[in-house]
Amino acid sequence: MKLTRWVALTALVPSLAMAWPWSKDMANQISIKPQEGPDSVRPYPERSVPMAGTKTTPYVHDHDAAMKLPNPNPATPESIARGREMFKIYCVPCHGNSGTGDGPVGAKLIVRPFDLTADRVQKEVPEGYIFAHVTFGGALMPSYGNDMYPSERWDLVNYVRHGLKADQAPAVSAK
Ligand code: HEC
Repeated sequence: MKLTRWVALTALVPSLAMAWPWSKDMANQISIKPQEGPDSVRPYPERSVPMAGTKTTPYVHDHDAAMKLPNPNPATPESIARGREMFKIYCVPCHGNSGTGDGPVGAKLIVRPFDLTADRVQKEVPEGYIFAHVTFGGALMPSYGNDMYPSERWDLVNYVRHGLKADQAPAVSAK
């Protein structure tokens, strides 16, 4: 009995020292990883994004390079509407519906998510900066590059710039 406990304890110590044991469990398994494996046998799934990028957005490696990309999607009402959907799914938990950082998860973070309605995000940084932050994350913010196609991320940029603040304006009451 004692020996089993000792073995269990020594097994736990190194894994605790490296990372939370459960944080890598899903990744470290024998399955074929994305972009890996028998291409000739198993074709890439439909709509998968080639490494070279898409027609309108070249593949970039980091935040700095992504920041320089121009937005290929005009800010049409359709693009803004698609961006709003993405925002509700991925951004509201932290940045809140208002975009100011008061989402239920954001409120619990030590560093509150930055205010996306501030002049900095609305006017000062290039649109590519918002795209870069979504694609690669920030110092604390997780990355969402694997969750959305490049075009969907640009729609999201259009929503942050052209829809987010407008959505906060009080509805005009019909008298
Ligand atoms: C898990 C919480 C979390 C989620 C979800 C999240 N963010 Fe963030 N975001 C943060 C935090 C914290 C910061 C500030 C620190 C940093 O940049 O990492 C931040 C910063 C940013 C910035 C930089 C603002 C500036 O002034 O530099 C942008 C842009 C941004 N987020 C956009 C988004 C968008 C768009 C989404 C939805 C895809 C999103 N965030 C989802 C937590 C989050």
